Amino acid sequence: MTLVSDPTAPRLAIAGATGAVGRTLIELIASRGLRHRGVRLAASARSAGRVVDVDGRATVVEDLEHTDFSDVDIAFFSAGTSVSLQWARKAAAQGALVIDNTNAFRMDPDTPLVVPQVNAGVLTGRPASGIIANPNCSTIPLVRLLSAVQERWGIRQVVVSTYQAASGQGEHGITELREGSELALRDPGAELPAERFTAPLAFNVVPFIDKLLDSGFTLEEQKMLQESRKILGLPHLDVTTTCVRVPVVNSHSEAVWVEAAAPVDRTELVARLAALPEVTVHDRDVPGRFPTPLTAGNPDHVHVGRVRVAPHNPRGFWLWLVADNLRIGAALNAVQIAENVLERGLL
Ligand SMILES: NC(=O)c1ccc[n+]([C@@H]2O[C@H](COP(=O)([O-])OP(=O)(O)OC[C@H]3O[C@@H](n4cnc5c(N)ncnc54)[C@H](OP(=O)(O)O)[C@@H]3O)[C@@H](O)[C@H]2O)c1
Repeated sequence: MTLVSDPTAPRLAIAGATGAVGRTLIELIASRGLRHRGVRLAASARSAGRVVDVDGRATVVEDLEHTDFSDVDIAFFSAGTSVSLQWARKAAAQGALVIDNTNAFRMDPDTPLVVPQVNAGVLTGRPASGIIANPNCSTIPLVRLLSAVQERWGIRQVVVSTYQAASGQGEHGITELREGSELALRDPGAELPAERFTAPLAFNVVPFIDKLLDSGFTLEEQKMLQESRKILGLPHLDVTTTCVRVPVVNSHSEAVWVEAAAPVDRTELVARLAALPEVTVHDRDVPGRFPTPLTAGNPDHVHVGRVRVAPHNPRGFWLWLVADNLRIGAALNAVQIAENVLERGLL
């Protein structure tokens, strides 16, 4: 039980508490022992009145539209971009420090975009907007590895293909994958559902996530470029991506090609990646080993494998990464931001 009466412990709120990220936030607040003076839960009017267990306490879900944040110190928002655009500034104006999981404020100059293992230093006090943004779920594990490469060798270009799980589309995405898979097994000729994804996901791969931009890239692909630049403090970093949805329930994977500014030694690269906090390198000693979404292990680590320097270009290397998008890519990063703010007395 992490509920305490200590007046220095924060009062918490979660907007989007009934969703995939919100439920993971509730679980992490308890399992990580984040001390607090209470957790308010909010969601849409559809969920108002539902009772949810929070760290052993039955907690009633409120309608976000009627939630007063004036007695909240930290408000986690994970109810979608449009909901954050409508309510997060109000929560901040009422006094809560908002940690936002959506795309609403990530590129706002008054809003820091934070991966604590990479750029916690940009947090020096309450941001001008009252909001700290959590990056996109594919960007977070990528920049956690790129920061070490940039520091040692410098980076010329990064080329990424993502393999993103259904849970990236929340609870409804998981349901659509499960139902579509069952239907396809029962009736191979059936028309499969495609409401949450751009094409049916069961037994398929879909190279299109979020909306199409005039550039021909998708918004998801643009997010990875813009957010990597902002987090790493490298405004001209060359990152180019193809984002693909795959029929995996949870955990995103990425095939990453990095061209460094100088030749890279595999042994040193692997040692530097393995020394990063909460990173597991699977082929540290036995080349070729790899994590998968089903077998990676600790869901709070970024998992790396198949690290290989190109024989024809010793500045270039490939790696494969797997990271739990609901935890590393969203809820865990948000909780780690809160822990960092509290440890450093920045609230
Ligand atoms: N899933 C991921 O891997 C991931 C990773 C990074 C960031 N994110 C971002 O996190 C946000 C939530 O994602 P999710 O996967 O948790 O989605 P989800 O499972 O669909 O959950 C959405 C949550 O938002 C609530 N909500 C929806 N419309 C609302 C409204 N008008 N007012 C108040 N609450 C509303 C829902 O409440 P009801 O249950 O009442 O409908 C639910 O609690 C999204 O912006 C997403 O882009 C997700």
